[in-house]
Amino acid sequence: MKILAIPGSIRTGSYNMALLRAMSELTSNETNITVFEGLKDIPIFNPNSADHDIPLAVADLMLKIKASDGVIISTPEYIYGISGALKNLLDWLVSTGVLVSKPVVSTSVSTQALGAVRSHSSLVLILHAMNASVVVDGSMNVPRVNMKFDKEFHLTDDLTKQAIAVSLAALEQAVNNIDKSAIELAI
Ligand SMILES: Cc1cc2nc3c(=O)[nH]c(=O)nc-3n(C[C@H](O)[C@H](O)[C@H](O)COP(=O)(O)O)c2cc1C
Repeated sequence: MKILAIPGSIRTGSYNMALLRAMSELTSNETNITVFEGLKDIPIFNPNSADHDIPLAVADLMLKIKASDGVIISTPEYIYGISGALKNLLDWLVSTGVLVSKPVVSTSVSTQALGAVRSHSSLVLILHAMNASVVVDGSMNVPRVNMKFDKEFHLTDDLTKQAIAVSLAALEQAVNNIDKSAIELAI
């Protein structure tokens, strides 16, 4: 099973990136998670370009999503919302249909105590608006994230490791249960 994991932060030393890399290392043998590293290359969304003039970086991302059985999107929280970079990426994708009926797990991380639950709620609302198949049982919030990774960004927190196992199991189950013809019809 192929999963694409998209971090919503372009920050060097991003904990969203670290979480997705940890998830990619904790998968079962049947699952392969590729972490998307091109968020910083996505141009600012312009609806004029959405139909006929899709930038290469967006087209590349579309191909990666189409080739994936499921997607994980991880968001930071900036002023109670998702990052501008992630919202920009989702604005590009909405008219392409590549996320329609696609199983998507949403995760959020914050150095603060609530684990970015507000931006996470916002992300879930956006994914519903895009008709993605949100895997509710797979969603995960990681509060105080800076205390859960070491200086080399290796995950050290056992409870977070357990939460990842639950999240990935839910995603695998959702992928196995999905009606693939609904995805093919949408794109
Ligand atoms: C401009 C800015 C605004 C932020 N606002 C919030 C916030 O409203 N709530 C919160 O929990 N964390 C907030 N944070 C903290 C980030 O959510 C936290 O640093 C997160 O780990 C960033 O993700 P990253 O490590 O992947 O870049 C903010 C950080 C920045 C830079």
